[in-house]
Amino acid sequence: MSDHDRKKVAVVTGATSGIGLAVARLLAAQDHRVFIGARSADNVAATVKLLQDEGLDVAGAVVDVRSTDEVRTWIQAAVDRFGPIDVVVNNAGRSGGGVTADIDDELWHDVIDTNLNSVFRVTREALTTGGLREKKRGRIINIASTAGKQGVVLGAPYSASKHGVVGFTKALGNELAPTGITVNAVCPGYVETPMAQRVRQGYAAAYSSTEDAILEKFQAKIPLGRYSTPEEVAGLVGYLASDTAASITSQALNVCGGLGNF
Ligand SMILES: NC(=O)c1ccc[n+]([C@@H]2O[C@H](COP(=O)([O-])OP(=O)(O)OC[C@H]3O[C@@H](n4cnc5c(N)ncnc54)[C@H](OP(=O)(O)O)[C@@H]3O)[C@@H](O)[C@H]2O)c1
Repeated sequence: MSDHDRKKVAVVTGATSGIGLAVARLLAAQDHRVFIGARSADNVAATVKLLQDEGLDVAGAVVDVRSTDEVRTWIQAAVDRFGPIDVVVNNAGRSGGGVTADIDDELWHDVIDTNLNSVFRVTREALTTGGLREKKRGRIINIASTAGKQGVVLGAPYSASKHGVVGFTKALGNELAPTGITVNAVCPGYVETPMAQRVRQGYAAAYSSTEDAILEKFQAKIPLGRYSTPEEVAGLVGYLASDTAASITSQALNVCGGLGNF
C-alpha cells in the first residue's frame, strides 16, 4: 500500500476530556488511526473503550507530557501500534495563575512545563522516534489559546506559556514549510470543558464572587454571547489535518466566538 492510500496516524495528548476528546473522536471519524494519551490510566482506558465502541480506530497509553522519557515511550507505543506518525495534536494543558507577585516557582514552572515545554518535547519525539521527519506530508497542530495573543489578568503563567506555543508554532512552521509538514496553532477562547469550570471556580474565589456571576461576566465579553464547544474547536483541527489545508502553515487561528479579533 502506498503512503498516500494508508490511513493516517494521529497522536493526541490530553484526549480524555474536553477539546482533546472531541479532537480524537473527529480525527478518527475522518479516517485517522488515533493514539491518545493522558496521565490517568483509568481515563485513558475508558476513553479508548468509549471511542472503540463508537467503531473508531483508537488506542492509547498513559503519558505525562512533562516527562521526556514518558513522551518517548508513548510515541514509540503509538508507532508500535499504528505505524509512523502523520499528525500530532499537542492539546494537553492546564490552567493556573493568580496574583503574579504571589505565584511561587512551583506553579510557574509547572504551567510552563505542562503547556509549553511539552509541545517541544512531544513534537521533537514525533519527528524523530515517530518518523514524522521522514514524511513528505505531515501536520503539527498545537492547541494554544486566545491567551496566547493577549494578556489574561491573573493568568500570567498561562498567557506566557500560550504566547510561547504561538511563537514555537510560527518558528517551526517556517522551518518545516519546505518539507510538506505544516505547523499551526488553534487558539480557543472560552470553551465549555472541565477546565473552563475550574477556571470559573478560580475567578469566583479571587473576586469573592459566584461561579454563575463569573460565567455571566465572561459571556458578556464574547461577541457571540456564549462559550464555544469542544466540537467547534475540533472542527478546525480536522480541517487543518486535511489535504486541503496544505498551504496553511505558521498560523495561529482563533475559535472564540469573536472574543479575539487579531
Ligand atoms: N477550555 C477552554 O476554555 C480553553 C481555552 C483555550 C485553550 N484551551 C486549551 O485547550 C487544551 C485542552 O483544554 P480542555 O479545556 O479540554 O482541558 P481539560 O478538560 O482539563 O482536559 C485536559 C486534558 O489534558 C490532560 N492532561 C493534563 N495535564 C497533562 C499532563 N501533564 N500530561 C498529559 N496529559 C495531561 C488531562 O488528563 P489527565 O489529567 O488525566 O492527565 C485531560 O485529558 C489545553 O491546552 C487548554 O489550555 C482551553
